[in-house]
Amino acid sequence: MSHNKSDPRDKLRGRSNVKDSKELLEFYKKLEDKSTTAFWRRANDIEPWEPITRYKPTVWRYEELRDLVLQSAELVKPEEAGRRVIVLMNNSDAGREHTSCVGWLFSGLQVMKPGEITPAHKHTASAQRFIMEGGGAYTVVDGHQVTLNKNDYVLTPNGCWHDHGVFEDGQISIWQDGLDIPLMNSLETNFYSVYPEETQKTKYNTDDSPMSYGAPGLIPVEREPWDKPYSPLLVYRWEDTKKALYNLSKAGDGSPFDGYILRYSNPVTGGWAMNTMGAHMQMLNPGQHTKAHRHTGNVMYNCAGGEGYSIIGGQKYHWQEHDIFCVPSWVWHEHVNTSKSDEAFLYSFNDFPVMESLCVYFEEPLDENKGHQKLTS
Ligand SMILES: [Fe+2]
Ligand SMILES: [Fe+2]
Repeated sequence: MSHNKSDPRDKLRGRSNVKDSKELLEFYKKLEDKSTTAFWRRANDIEPWEPITRYKPTVWRYEELRDLVLQSAELVKPEEAGRRVIVLMNNSDAGREHTSCVGWLFSGLQVMKPGEITPAHKHTASAQRFIMEGGGAYTVVDGHQVTLNKNDYVLTPNGCWHDHGVFEDGQISIWQDGLDIPLMNSLETNFYSVYPEETQKTKYNTDDSPMSYGAPGLIPVEREPWDKPYSPLLVYRWEDTKKALYNLSKAGDGSPFDGYILRYSNPVTGGWAMNTMGAHMQMLNPGQHTKAHRHTGNVMYNCAGGEGYSIIGGQKYHWQEHDIFCVPSWVWHEHVNTSKSDEAFLYSFNDFPVMESLCVYFEEPLDENKGHQKLTS
């Protein structure tokens, strides 16, 4: 998408309407020779009437990708690859330029076989992962080891040493990584370090983080005050999340745009779990069709169960378990659970914390057509 050159609002006072002339073209050339330009030549493009995303709604189908992800485990060792990840690329020029699935979000699918490890390292980019299949996997974050199973959500906040693996008696595991690498590279703040040893020695009892901070509304008293800028709860268990969604569904009507939706939060502050990326899990009732809205910020979804479709920018995108899709900034979207009997679950992560901390998170409902988009194809 690009600026609409024929937008009638560009005729308004305060917008650029300067016509080229011989004198002006000569003047522009002189400016260019001095590494300058006339702002009015570009103003309407760089200050559009509303956000214009360079990213396209894109779907990554798990049944098409799973075999390729498993194949990567046969072709490359994780200690050689560093991180054996198949990167999800947005179907746009911007996606290729920034190695981005959408906006400031990078994502990929990582596979680990029993007994394998990813060497310990740290980076400025924050990371999170959503376990898609398998079991008996673990992540170690600054000496805290947390075990991981299907549909768990786990944090590796920026600057923390981390390594991953699957126990010898575990199952081959596939997870979706989500990082803010495009943001860190745009800010030119990306540092990367490797740990002096292949793996960290765990300093605490296994799962000390969820055992200390995983109970709703309860914070341990006999621990050091938590002063780190991210959540002390490093893993959010699926069984807890699912139970919380069903409870929420008994408490009220939920969101017209998202059904029943929960935010993974820092239990100490109630804020986002990390500073640059947030995440949600939502549940759609059988047959539910949400209303359309749009907002700034970019979102990557992963169907955690069930089936349905989303209408994004006027087009229908079907999804089933573990299909991944994105909604770029300021694009209309609504979700449909096509099952008549079963709930549908959508995990998602986003760059909302960045938008909110910069005071540029904006949201609006679609008012026309009873809140539903007209399909364009
Ligand atoms: Fe990492
Ligand atoms: Fe939304």
